[in-house]
Amino acid sequence: MSGFGLYVHWPFCLSKCPYCDFNSHVRDQVDQVRWKAALLAELAHWAEKTPDRQLDTIFFGGGTPSLMPPETAGAVIEAAKSHWTPSPDLEVTLEANPTSVEAEKLSGFRDAGVGRVSLGIQALNDADLARLGRTHSARDALRALEIARERFERISFDLIYARPEQSLAQWREELARALELSAGHLSLYQLTIEKRTVFELAYARGELKIPGEDAAADLYEATQDMTEAAGLPAYEISNHAAPGAECRHNLIYWRYGDYAGIGPGAHGRLTLGGEKYATRVHRAPEAWLKRVEEDGHAIRTFEPIPREIRAEESLMMGLRLAEGASKSTVETEAGRGFDDIISASRRAALIEEGLLGETPSRITATKAGRQRLDSVLGYLLAGPQEGPT
Ligand SMILES: C[S@@+](CC[C@H](N)C(=O)[O-])C[C@H]1O[C@@H](n2cnc3c(N)ncnc32)[C@H](O)[C@@H]1O
Ligand code: SF4
Repeated sequence: MSGFGLYVHWPFCLSKCPYCDFNSHVRDQVDQVRWKAALLAELAHWAEKTPDRQLDTIFFGGGTPSLMPPETAGAVIEAAKSHWTPSPDLEVTLEANPTSVEAEKLSGFRDAGVGRVSLGIQALNDADLARLGRTHSARDALRALEIARERFERISFDLIYARPEQSLAQWREELARALELSAGHLSLYQLTIEKRTVFELAYARGELKIPGEDAAADLYEATQDMTEAAGLPAYEISNHAAPGAECRHNLIYWRYGDYAGIGPGAHGRLTLGGEKYATRVHRAPEAWLKRVEEDGHAIRTFEPIPREIRAEESLMMGLRLAEGASKSTVETEAGRGFDDIISASRRAALIEEGLLGETPSRITATKAGRQRLDSVLGYLLAGPQEGPT
């Protein structure tokens, strides 16, 4: 079983980072009473559709959920525990930005029922933090990490690499430091130039020099080698953990389990009566709030996913993981045999190229395969007759 999780989206940030295309917005005022009531209403709506589930995880993501009043997070956690049967080791994660104000609030979140914190540190030096448009300093980040360590047993932090002007030597040095600071889990994301961001414009104008494909590949390989040597191997393309310290919530996504999503733009995957449904709610914060206040939910999409797409999604998710995709999961989603979904000859070609591995029960992308997962998947699912590029 892949488990069942709840994702809660908090769409507000103190400022908008130039690289970020998440559903995050800056607002002078947030009516906390209305927002809390709306989150609870939407939660009740999904809970009614999914009775009798055991709840394994809750994840507060954003945006910047550490800007929420801890009391709102507490109310959501308590309501979720009363709607569903909480797993004895329910995992509750909160994404937090490492500004001093938010660090001060961490005790409140712990008392509200949060058990795991994921800090968005992004870089360990001030020059790169400034280039990334972050409002905190490296010192703030270290202080927030220290406070988090005092208050939580499970901590992760995020860094972005392949930054403007970053050399391999600089990243190796910074990653070595991060590994010393880490507490069992690290998310290491390669900078992506996302559409409709300030970075996209700057990049198009030639004002932003980021490592090219070869340099980025070297950075990725160094990241894999160093984290593995430090006992925090990649369990997913960008996520590294000591055995047992993996984020169980994200594992639910990648193992193609069910999750409900509340808050603006949140999506979900719910198996109901043998069908798997894709769900998505209104994205714009004010439209979402208004809809929930009027209708009790802000659903935009609630539709069964065709079996073909279910098979593809489960494979796309599973191949991100070092453990790979379970063939029986893909078969269950597809409603047909594995060989019917992906031809044995295509699999063999990728195995021959060192991009794929296979056992009787699982199919995995190798480290090299995970690095070029899009082309691996393109070839496996509907790609060209010749090998992947
Ligand atoms: C949803 S964001 C929110 C976390 C929190 N608001 C923060 O900024 O610290 C989760 C993570 O995605 C990563 N991220 C966001 N945009 C990215 C991009 N364009 N390229 C690479 N990583 C990105 C960052 O590491 C960030 O911490
Ligand atoms: S990276 Fe985090 S803080 Fe920055 S805009 Fe995105 S969600 Fe907000």
